[in-house]
Amino acid sequence: MKRGIRAATAAAFSAVAAVAVRDLLQRDHALLRNFPIIGHGRYLIEAIGPELRQYVVAANDEERPFTRDQRRWVYASAKKENNYFGFGTDNDMEYTAGYPIIKHRTFGRAVPRSAPAAGYEAYLPCAKVLGAARGRPRAFRPDSVVNISAMSFGALSGNAVEALNRGAAMAGCLHNTGEGGLSPHHRHGGELIFQIGTAYFGCRDERGRFDLRRLKDLVAGAPVRALEIKLSQGAKPSLGGLLPGAKVSAEIAAARGVPPGVDCVSPSRHAEFSDADSLLDWAELLAAETGLPVGIKSAVGDLDFWDELTTLMATTGRGVDFVTIDGGEGGTGAAPLIFTDTVSLPFQVGFARVYKMFAERNLHENVAFIGAGKLGLPDNAIVAFALGCDMVYVAREAMLAIGCVQAQKCHTDTCPTGVATQNRWLTRGLDPTLKSVRAANYLKTLRRDLIKVAEACGVEHPGLIDTASVEILDGRTAATALDRVYGYRPGWGLPSAADQAAIAELMRAAEPQGGSAPPSPSATGRPGAR
Ligand SMILES: Cc1cc2nc3c(=O)[nH]c(=O)nc-3n(C[C@H](O)[C@H](O)[C@H](O)COP(=O)(O)O)c2cc1C
Ligand code: SF4
Repeated sequence: MKRGIRAATAAAFSAVAAVAVRDLLQRDHALLRNFPIIGHGRYLIEAIGPELRQYVVAANDEERPFTRDQRRWVYASAKKENNYFGFGTDNDMEYTAGYPIIKHRTFGRAVPRSAPAAGYEAYLPCAKVLGAARGRPRAFRPDSVVNISAMSFGALSGNAVEALNRGAAMAGCLHNTGEGGLSPHHRHGGELIFQIGTAYFGCRDERGRFDLRRLKDLVAGAPVRALEIKLSQGAKPSLGGLLPGAKVSAEIAAARGVPPGVDCVSPSRHAEFSDADSLLDWAELLAAETGLPVGIKSAVGDLDFWDELTTLMATTGRGVDFVTIDGGEGGTGAAPLIFTDTVSLPFQVGFARVYKMFAERNLHENVAFIGAGKLGLPDNAIVAFALGCDMVYVAREAMLAIGCVQAQKCHTDTCPTGVATQNRWLTRGLDPTLKSVRAANYLKTLRRDLIKVAEACGVEHPGLIDTASVEILDGRTAATALDRVYGYRPGWGLPSAADQAAIAELMRAAEPQGGSAPPSPSATGRPGAR
């Protein structure tokens, strides 16, 4: 026994000595050369630093992209656990410039129901009919104002895509395919927005050129309700992408229409159009050939493009049916730090600039606006609706709902929760059936909160919240109304009068109203008593 312990100790010493010698002789790391053995501690702490900070050090309102409170709210909502918070806010609201305040109305038109679960299963459709203004044959009113944003099969695992698609079906919302094509994982009942990126994955020929016939076959054989032309993404505008050959499995290759095992490149620009004029021609071609509403997705930088686009839409009669604006704070599977941190405007600033250009040309009521960029949190989403969004997309919040722990290793293929990896061992940990329920629970809870806040503001639907209902704090003693912050004119941010009336009527029919006890005999008959 003693001899065994001695042998083990000698082996351990030899191993440590070998590492020390290697550290001393190597030239790559000065730290290890100077501090053999103990220098490894620094690399270990660097590797597990995010987890350490997240679980041990960070306060409730720290950590980015999503704070601990925000993640806790998503996780609890996804599991249908108690997602309330006790004692009051721990946000530093009085001292945080830019903090949004939503102004409730004492006697509003909408009367919320008092049951705690009221609104959970509520129907919360879009206030606009996508494609109606341009007479698209397959125009439709999306059933949900919250939808799942573009994330490709390739960036996400097959199980993650399946969980999201099943979750979308359960919650009655749309699921954007992302630019990586339409895979079998997208075919579990959730209706789709098919995204067309620069590589035309899923609708390209053998030479990588856009192939209209393939697109038409694809949308005819799947529940595709709309097409989204991707111009850029907030986290990496103007960049293409590369999926290394090692990750291009047969399944990914089939979805994209590329050879397996070979580096899969997305160019940085489209080949089918080169300016706003030719973009509009192409959008009209796609709409005419498929009958579907067609939109564009873009981050916001220089405004020349938007000026040209809106001027052409106002003067030539051509147009897109929806516009998705992605904020610079948006997510990605992988991108250079300079792009994620600095290129393209954050959502509120970028969206308001673009919306105003549509509104100045009187186009805003005939285009549906979708926002993305941390809008899967109710407070951010409400500001987006007030600014004129008709729907919001959620990407990373939906990832959190299906198990993402914000380890931020999506670019390494080592995602510990199986969400953003193609590693078979890691993806098998993600049960798509269980996680689909989590995704649906989260989506429904977000919609419930949006309805509750809309009712607190006195209206039936978040799309009816106007800019006057939101103020932005300038610090402890001052606040500025949202319309003044962004230079909006009266009425901007709202759908047309006809769309407002239609959505209010739909909501009143779908969601019973009334929160008070029955009136007393003395109140009955008095004007204003319920
Ligand atoms: C893993 C991952 C993959 C993504 N893939 C795409 C994509 O294929 N096309 C696209 O337009 N945006 C893509 N995005 C951006 C999202 O669709 C979304 O616009 C952005 O993350 C902002 O939403 P969020 O803040 O809710 O995450 C991706 C984001 C993530 C996190
Ligand atoms: S858990 Fe996975 S998906 Fe979430 S941030 Fe980490 S690596 Fe990315």
